[in-house]
Amino acid sequence: MNDIAIKLENITVRFRIPHEKIPTFQEYAIRWLKRHSVNYSDFNALNNISFSIKKGQTFGIIGSNGAGKSTLLKVISRVIRPTQGRVFLRGRIAPLLELGAGFDYEMTGRENIFLNGAVLGFSRKHIASRIEKIVEFSGIEEFIDAPVRTYSSGMVARLGFAVATDVQPEVLVIDEILSVGDIDFQKKSAERILEYYNNGSTILVVSHNPASIRQLCTHVIWLEHGCIKTMGPVDDIINDYSSPLS
Ligand SMILES: Nc1ncnc2c1ncn2[C@@H]1O[C@H](COP(=O)(O)OP(=O)(O)O)[C@@H](O)[C@H]1O
Ligand SMILES: [Mg+2]
Repeated sequence: MNDIAIKLENITVRFRIPHEKIPTFQEYAIRWLKRHSVNYSDFNALNNISFSIKKGQTFGIIGSNGAGKSTLLKVISRVIRPTQGRVFLRGRIAPLLELGAGFDYEMTGRENIFLNGAVLGFSRKHIASRIEKIVEFSGIEEFIDAPVRTYSSGMVARLGFAVATDVQPEVLVIDEILSVGDIDFQKKSAERILEYYNNGSTILVVSHNPASIRQLCTHVIWLEHGCIKTMGPVDDIINDYSSPLS
């Protein structure tokens, strides 16, 4: 058990989906006030998933849009609580979830570094001592005091990656953000990921790109409709996977 970094036991995540489209929150509130019922159905984004990941393994998570990849990373990062099941996690986790998660778009890049750092569990003092390095890694020095809403998606990804990976975590979780960056950023972030891998971090990466899965991962989990279709060493699986064009 000592070599296990992440263990999921019978994880189910159920969402409640309204049957009819409710266009605005106001309309929803009016219906609620008038006691008009809204019909729902339940939908399992993850269906009784169990697996263990050993310390130091690097897993690629693949599968079509809607398969449950982001939901899986959010459960592991404890951003959402599973409807059923248990998650075990050893060590500090640095989650890099969907693009922009954890950012306040009205605040500047610099302010967001402090915000994100706090969410990751670092003190203000620690971030203040590291901020020049973080800004430098992000490569967006000129824009760091502009509001994040003025950033391109690639710049948001750069900043998020720079903050979350400034200190090596035991577990690093990355949801697709590598694909929005330019080639320079992809190269730089891949180097850092490989460095952390060589130093023993456990890493989970969601990517649609078989080349980056091959480059970064030892193992693959292939999700389909909230279930594990297959899971194992990267070479056994990635050939069967053709990237769904979204
Ligand atoms: N907060 C939510 N409320 C309702 N349904 C959701 C929510 N989050 C995700 N889903 C649904 O769960 C399924 C899996 O979503 P997700 O994990 O984001 O898939 P992926 O990252 O593999 O594209 C999708 O059908 C999605 O619409
Ligand atoms: Mg996703």
